[in-house]
Amino acid sequence: MANANIAPSNAFKARLESASPCMWINPARRPSLPTPRATDISCRDMERAANRMHRFAPLIVELFPETAQCGGIIESDLIPAPRFARALSHPPEAGALWIKADHALPVAGSIKARGGIHEVLEFAEKLALDHGLINIDSYYGRLRLHKARALFGRYKVVVGSTGNLGMSIGTIAAALGFKAIVHMSFNSKEWKKDRLRKLGVQVIEHPGDYEKAVDAGRREAEANPYSYFVDDERSLSLFLGYSVAALRLQSQLRKNRISVDAEHPLFVYLPCGVGGAPSGIAFGLKQLFGDHVHCFFAEPTASPCFLVRMLNPDHAGISIYDIGLDGNTEADGLAVPRASELAIDMMRPLLSGIFTVKDDDLFHSLYLLNETEGIRIEPSAAAGFNGPQMLFNSEAGRHYLAANNLSKKMGVATHILWSTGGLFVPDDEYAGFLARGKAMVAGD
Ligand SMILES: Cc1ncc(COP(=O)(O)O)c(C=O)c1O
Repeated sequence: MANANIAPSNAFKARLESASPCMWINPARRPSLPTPRATDISCRDMERAANRMHRFAPLIVELFPETAQCGGIIESDLIPAPRFARALSHPPEAGALWIKADHALPVAGSIKARGGIHEVLEFAEKLALDHGLINIDSYYGRLRLHKARALFGRYKVVVGSTGNLGMSIGTIAAALGFKAIVHMSFNSKEWKKDRLRKLGVQVIEHPGDYEKAVDAGRREAEANPYSYFVDDERSLSLFLGYSVAALRLQSQLRKNRISVDAEHPLFVYLPCGVGGAPSGIAFGLKQLFGDHVHCFFAEPTASPCFLVRMLNPDHAGISIYDIGLDGNTEADGLAVPRASELAIDMMRPLLSGIFTVKDDDLFHSLYLLNETEGIRIEPSAAAGFNGPQMLFNSEAGRHYLAANNLSKKMGVATHILWSTGGLFVPDDEYAGFLARGKAMVAGD
């Protein structure tokens, strides 16, 4: 059963507003799988998105030879992390710790790859079908040829982003032959913009935050019938692309002989920005595992937009600025002032909870992960790593475990820390992250 406590206490609100770490349990979570309210999407739609990615796999191999090994399917490994668990003081009795390695996702280097690439492929497929270049059973590798590129070259693909969605959309759109335009917010990292420019993508910088960048992209596309806008705040195609990760994780769990059932709970900790990527994945996991999977989102203390919106169910459009926060965080991928309403609507009955993390803790975890497992990530990707600790050590977390009869099952539980980005971080930038993390550890 969900926590019956509906309104957050004044003490909780004070912590949230002073940017102190919090753990919140969703009182609106429903024990059995409800019908999503915002749309009537289902497992079938998720499978359709997965099938589309399969149809495009031969073309992906041609465009990105680094994906040949995995047959053009852009997917990350599921990695056991026993040394990291020890460094986090996560004992075996608390369950096994795994990392879902989206930091190493080929082509785009982050969790935003599946959704972004799926949406551009869906658009390209529609154009190619409408113009008779392929039918659904064709060999899609032929979309690399001149005729298809000439068709795609008539269209602009436009997106607004904090960085990683832009990298995903820009990379695939430019590779297919579209004109790719990425509007970036002020806190986007320079190296992400440079990388895109080198790929032939037009990068437009904005002095405002993520929302302003998205809005600029939306307005640019509205004015031009040959523009296609990828809407990070509202797109179902993105959402379904993200959800495909759940199907793939299911087969990785099977391969690793990890059971997920009433006796073997699965906990998944996902960094959250606007909410699209973690919600798509959580939606997919809930379709496959129902009550046996417990999804928690992680946000920076300076920018907990999803938590703010979940706490205010009647206040669509509420932002972190409305509660006095400034959104300044090194977790650039999560620096979003307002949650996606689509993601909120989908998660209201499904999400277990949300916790917030200070920037210092991100660097601390980033450093420990490198020291123990040799894994290289960007700060946003570390947001979920405090999850098990928040679950076991906070009153709200312990209450959740007890109220859902989970406390006695933790020895056979599985925890997945979703590590969401980092593949393309330049060496000098990463050295700075490590130095900051090392200083945090030394200060412990
Ligand atoms: C590294 C990283 N992790 C997590 C996220 C969160 O995704 P979303 O904004 O869809 O919630 C992002 C978003 O860009 C990201 O770049």
